[in-house]
Amino acid sequence: MIKQINMDKKLKQDRYNRIYVQLEELLTKCDYHISRMATVVAVLHHKMDFFWTGFYLLNEGRLLVGPYQGTVACQELEKNKGVCWAGINQGKPIVVPDVNQFPGHIACDSRSKSEISVPLKNKNGKITGVLDIDSKTLDSFDEVDVEALERIVGMI
Ligand code: SME
Repeated sequence: MIKQINMDKKLKQDRYNRIYVQLEELLTKCDYHISRMATVVAVLHHKMDFFWTGFYLLNEGRLLVGPYQGTVACQELEKNKGVCWAGINQGKPIVVPDVNQFPGHIACDSRSKSEISVPLKNKNGKITGVLDIDSKTLDSFDEVDVEALERIVGMI
């Protein structure tokens, strides 16, 4: 079997740099947060070739799917379980090189192999959800993604 090679760090950084420029322009057009999330997801998903890209949003203590692109996802994530809840509860990005090694990982699609979740905060610094991204390749996410995605989530 041919192993899929992960994107070179420099290439990845260059792509994120182009995405910042594009989002800075696109996000001037509308101040509604859900529309802004939908725009971020569409740009990231197609420019970065992710397998699944989307938001999970806190709603009265439940974590429910928001704008996303990719295969059909779980609508609600069991409380305090999995990668998204870990991002919310720990208040920091969670990088998972191999989802099968992450205790409690919730598999919405068995083709997902690695994952990152990045907390989304409101103006007061309160966590309101996460940006969650899945890859079909093991070990897809690193510090370049953490830094870029924290910056992008901050643009919402
Ligand atoms: N794997 C996530 C669930 C969401 S999907 O990946 C779209 C988790 O463990 O929280």
